[in-house]
Amino acid sequence: MRNCASLGTQDLGSVVEVRGWVNRRRDHGGVIFVDLRDRSGIVQVTFSQSGGPAVHKLADELRSEFVISLSGLVIARTPENVNPEMPTGEIEIAAQELTILNTAKTPPISIADEQEVDEAVRLRYRCLDLRREKLKNNLILRSEITRKTREYLHALDFLEIETPLLTRSTPEGARDYLVPSRVKQGRFYALPQSPQLFKQLLMVSGYEKYFQIAKCFRDEDLRADRQPEFTQIDIELSFAGEKAIRELTNGLLKQLLPLAGREYPDAVPEIAYADAINYYGSDAPDLRFDLKLTDISEIAAQSELKVFKEVVDRGGIVKAINVKKADGRLSRSALEAYKEFVGKFGAKGLAWITIRENELNSPIAKFFTQAQLEAVIKKTGGEVGDILLFVADKKKIVHEALGKLRCAVARDLRLYDPADFQFCWVVKFPLFEKNAEGRLTSAHHPFTQPLDDRLDENTLSAAYDIVLNGVELGGGSLRIYRADEQQKVFAALGIAPAEAGEKFGFLLDAFQYGAPPHGGIALGLDRLVMLLSGAESIRDVIAFPKTKSAECLLTEAPAPAAPEQLQELGLKLS
Ligand code: AMO
Ligand code: AMP
Repeated sequence: MRNCASLGTQDLGSVVEVRGWVNRRRDHGGVIFVDLRDRSGIVQVTFSQSGGPAVHKLADELRSEFVISLSGLVIARTPENVNPEMPTGEIEIAAQELTILNTAKTPPISIADEQEVDEAVRLRYRCLDLRREKLKNNLILRSEITRKTREYLHALDFLEIETPLLTRSTPEGARDYLVPSRVKQGRFYALPQSPQLFKQLLMVSGYEKYFQIAKCFRDEDLRADRQPEFTQIDIELSFAGEKAIRELTNGLLKQLLPLAGREYPDAVPEIAYADAINYYGSDAPDLRFDLKLTDISEIAAQSELKVFKEVVDRGGIVKAINVKKADGRLSRSALEAYKEFVGKFGAKGLAWITIRENELNSPIAKFFTQAQLEAVIKKTGGEVGDILLFVADKKKIVHEALGKLRCAVARDLRLYDPADFQFCWVVKFPLFEKNAEGRLTSAHHPFTQPLDDRLDENTLSAAYDIVLNGVELGGGSLRIYRADEQQKVFAALGIAPAEAGEKFGFLLDAFQYGAPPHGGIALGLDRLVMLLSGAESIRDVIAFPKTKSAECLLTEAPAPAAPEQLQELGLKLS
């Protein structure tokens, strides 16, 4: 038995056996052409009268997606029939025997054509969708990536260890998926948001180097790059510093990128979190284009523009991006659309200045003196033809609005090659974030090592993220490994000792018995495959993904439970 795609001119004159699916069938009066497809690819088969009338007659019954097995002679195609687009395009099989193993209904999705199909239909008929070339290649790449990851980490003496899926909550900032216990009614397991606590316990157990291709579950709002269950390449090691963990990750990515025909750079820039926010308005900056944010608060405060002045007086800021040579490329209506766009992030307006020879076109220029305008232009690096875009508001809003706007403008004006890859490490994350009620919450997770004894809003942490083209690929940190330090961080987070003991007592306890310094990282496997394959959605790199409303259209999960099941679990629906 041969794989379709393995056949070539080296097989000319031999009789081969192949099996697979009918990708296409064409009847050219007398000769029937079948493109036969298996996982490896496609080979053309011809059925002519000279191959035997019975076989030809049977071939007449073939339709798309029939499963067949056949044997025949490998012959050269005539020069005018050679297809250079096809790896097997120089040959074809002249069929001698044919068996129909199974028939197929006309599929609701065409497998042979890469035509657009509504995603709901694709997900409903996923087993057909998965036959298509694009998805198949994505899943092959995914498999290659996990294989290479295992090879790389095993070669460095890492152990692959599984951790439980039925467990207690591992907080990573999302809601838990709960599983009710039948034996202990009224109690619940939580599916892990990550293996974080177990991998730390493994370090306490002395395993030193751990990894796992780990399933994680997070009940959070879904987006193009988020799924409720997803996979991490999860790594933890003892006695290693931040640098060593980043180098280990660089080494892994250096192995993985060539699988997609790409190269990982020798040097990846490291950007402090504060700079990433300051210059790019995001902790996952897209470095394929420049468009940095410039702070013009001081100048704005002196101006007569009330909306700017008042913002600065109230402790807010005014920032600008300079869109080079945009005059004539960004219409008035495009600017109005951007104003609406930044509104989605809370910005109350978008002001602009178009720099022209001897004049400025701007609704706000009249509120500035000549000297102030010159200062703004100098600070933003403005030149004739540039358009400066401004947002004034609270820091957080300005950064988010302009951070998102720089990406939208760069995409709309094609300021970069979408196929370009720009990685960066974002380092020195803050330990905490302030939530809407003014309480401290973990910026990463509560087990991250602070870089300072003093614990407040400004404390930095030993946490780092690897970012590709504005997408957070992975994140990790050095961990706290002393119980007293962990208690202090819990206290700063408003977790009382009793609650800490109840939720994380097993960790605090383990820390009493010789916990080594340790740290690690987790890469989002789905996101990595998405970016490496050029897929637009994370759903295109997962065999059986869920929709934006966390449903599986194929199995129709989640589904109602039978009354007996609920009763067994001691549950009543309210
Ligand atoms: P973090 O929460 O940053 O860290 O997750 C690590 C990486 O997992 C990916 N990821 C997701 N991918 C798809 N769908 C999701 N819903 C989703 N959520 C996260 C991202 C992210 O960078 N335990 C820590 C790691 C550590 O400290 O070692 C953790 O889980 O690519
Ligand atoms: P107004 O005086 O409200 O008409 O605003 C004058 C210009 O400033 C308009 O182009 C507004 O879009 C813009 N603008 C208003 N508020 C803000 C803000 N918070 N940040 C940036 N521009 C603003």
